[in-house]
Amino acid sequence: LSSYPSYIDLLPSIQTCNITNLPENYFLKYYLYHALTWPQLSFVAIVRPKGGYKAGTGRGAAGDVSGQYPKVVGYVLAKMEEEPTDGKQHGHITSLSVMRTHRRLGIAERLMRMSQRAMAESHRANYVSLHVRVSNTAALRLYRDTLGFEVEKVEDKYYADGENAYAMRLDLTGQW
Ligand code: ACO
Repeated sequence: LSSYPSYIDLLPSIQTCNITNLPENYFLKYYLYHALTWPQLSFVAIVRPKGGYKAGTGRGAAGDVSGQYPKVVGYVLAKMEEEPTDGKQHGHITSLSVMRTHRRLGIAERLMRMSQRAMAESHRANYVSLHVRVSNTAALRLYRDTLGFEVEKVEDKYYADGENAYAMRLDLTGQW
């Protein structure tokens, strides 16, 4: 048995990271659904505890006082579109965030590139789509300038508070 925590062990910490960084939150079972249905597509950035892991420590990450549990500092939660309206296999980024303490280190870019590659390689995705708030300049720069996404359209009042979203997409064909 490995003492290294699995992705599923980390789901509560991933959920905490999401709640800390974004107003769009999900039930734990939705994270689990992603992990079970598309295990190749979601990734997590962790800070390893000093001295490594010890068997039997760390279950129930939030209450861990042993210092032996990894800290989740970023994640990308991704899926394949189950009923694509255009009939084209494609991936979708459900959620991405990085803790403030660990931003501008290239973590989000790396998480996104890993997920995009897995979508193309494991699921033959033609493209990847996502939604982002029109006011979210940091994420927009990441998606448009660093990763090469394009704005497909504006979706009016997409978010619960009435803000509009850019629907963005990136072509994945012929990249890998
Ligand atoms: N201002 C301007 N450009 C930025 C910023 C910023 N604050 N942050 C990232 N970028 C751009 C830059 O071009 C950057 O490259 P550079 O550092 O060489 O200039 C590039 O993106 C890559 O940055 P990363 O270091 O990989 O990004 P980071 O790990 O800091 O995470 C993120 C970016 C995810 C947007 C982070 O700021 C965050 O968690 N924000 C809050 C949550 C959020 O908005 N998530 C996205 C919602 S949309 C969705 O989930 C589909």
